[in-house]
Amino acid sequence: PFYATAAKQPQGGIQTSPQRYCVLMTFDMSTTLTTQLQVLLARWSAAIAQLQAGKTVGSVDPKAGVGDDTGEALDLGPASLTVTVGLGPGIFDQRFGLASKKPAHLAQIPTLPSDNLQAATTGGDLCLQACADDPQVAYHAIRDLARMARGTATVRWTVLGFGRASAGKDQTTPRNLMGFKDGTRNIETEAEFEKFVWLGDDAGWMAGGTYQVVRKIEINIEIWDADFVGDQQSVFGRTKVEGAPLSGGTEHTTPDFHAKASNGDTKIDARSHIALAAHENNGGVKIHRRPYNYTDGLNQYGQLDAGLLFTAFMNDPEHFTRIQTKLGASDRLNEYISHIGSAVFAVPPAPKEGQYIGQGLFS
Ligand code: HEM
Repeated sequence: PFYATAAKQPQGGIQTSPQRYCVLMTFDMSTTLTTQLQVLLARWSAAIAQLQAGKTVGSVDPKAGVGDDTGEALDLGPASLTVTVGLGPGIFDQRFGLASKKPAHLAQIPTLPSDNLQAATTGGDLCLQACADDPQVAYHAIRDLARMARGTATVRWTVLGFGRASAGKDQTTPRNLMGFKDGTRNIETEAEFEKFVWLGDDAGWMAGGTYQVVRKIEINIEIWDADFVGDQQSVFGRTKVEGAPLSGGTEHTTPDFHAKASNGDTKIDARSHIALAAHENNGGVKIHRRPYNYTDGLNQYGQLDAGLLFTAFMNDPEHFTRIQTKLGASDRLNEYISHIGSAVFAVPPAPKEGQYIGQGLFS
């Protein structure tokens, strides 16, 4: 349910088994009136409840003049839609008088090794992530919510994710655009969500919420496609078809980062993506990855412009920073990818019945 019935209930689109499509949009506040922020969050909350139930956000009556709902999802049903609302660090700067309510770990992600961030795909005071099994349902949700924001917030950047690149408990592992299974070793159990994702009671109005880190990561598709499959496998540390770790076994076998080949080298390259990212090599830290593949058509050189809309949820964005600091410095994948967008958001818990998202922020 969209409205929380238990004391702490997260928003959808985090632990929810990934739907097939995602549209993500960030916004900048265009007002400094705190009440307008409250009204927007309240209107969004009511509209999201409608949309997730497969209903319109208002009238499409020809007699009523301009429609409240734009209509393109009228016959499509809910299509498993979830919309997740995030609040960026800017909400807690001097503009709105909310600095004392700032979530403890919310801060801009520092500049990291190999960053190639573009202003046009970075930051945002607010974020909407709409995921659905029908791309038109996801797009309609974002479009009509953006429409409600007019006069209060302006659109900053957006990404259309066309294929899920992570798996829920009941799903098989999908593949990213590099052709590898993505999401094999991810946070899945309730115990891991409690430990690594949800904020506890000490987080005050954010208890039951989490943080979201978004990175738009371009993949140099043509260069990757010219690489030998054997080399591609050592870049990730896994086989391409099965997704098994190069230390042996099948997809879900735990990688052995110390196993040696007959020549004395570790079977999984120490600079491979999984060796650098694994919790065993990062002080036990885990994040919940929920990425999508995206494409923007062609780039200015006529090459395929595509990549990974990386989104991850965690109880402290420092955990992302810790992993990406290592990846950015040493990952063999860096030859083929480029981080061009970045943003971080506090994701409040779902609103209690009769309340709106982030209401605790204003009391
Ligand atoms: C694992 C792809 C970026 C963190 C993996 C795997 C693949 C993959 C194929 C192995 C399967 C799995 O366990 O899910 C990619 C691609 C990326 C990317 C194509 C960019 C285009 C990132 C970033 C981070 C990250 C930015 C975090 C800073 C992880 C983690 C694992 C992982 C924590 C699990 C490692 C393990 O425990 O074995 N990724 N990834 N990845 N990736 Fe990425």
